[in-house]
Amino acid sequence: MINVSKLKKGIVIDHIEEGRGYYIFKELKLNEIKDPVVLMQNIPSRKMGKKDLIKIETDLDLDLNALGLINPNATINIVKNGELVRKFKLTLPKKVSGLLVCKNPRCITQSEYIPSIDFYLVDEDKKTYRCEYCDTYTTYMEK
Ligand code: CTP
Ligand code: ZN
Repeated sequence: MINVSKLKKGIVIDHIEEGRGYYIFKELKLNEIKDPVVLMQNIPSRKMGKKDLIKIETDLDLDLNALGLINPNATINIVKNGELVRKFKLTLPKKVSGLLVCKNPRCITQSEYIPSIDFYLVDEDKKTYRCEYCDTYTTYMEK
């Protein structure tokens, strides 16, 4: 098995559903960050059979809220000074900023640059959110 060393500081996104690591990598634009990043795919896991995993050695704060929309069951591990200081499971966010685009073509959010458009969860199973500007429902779709 391929081994990647432990982090001194940064973020480990663990228990990513098999085959979804690359999608998350792209959505978080990890190709653009200047810190060391590894994407591991098809890692044997007792619980999941196989899983993907991403390690980022960084001081940056990533938008983990958005990540909950993409992969609600992943585990986030935060490492500082070589020690795991926080571990938590992602959940589907009740509110998202960015990532979603309102489905209503006449919505203000389509025509102007709005720094933070909030969408509020209305249907957990379908991942449907309500636009704060026009109340239109928009369902999260994978690209
Ligand atoms: N990790 C790391 N650097 C550290 C500490 C942990 O890269 N300094 C990584 C581990 O390699 C592992 C993940 O963070 O991929 C979680 O670490 P740990 O909680 O020790 O592993 P598990 O017990 O297997 O996690 P879980 O119970 O969430 O499955
Ligand atoms: Zn709208």
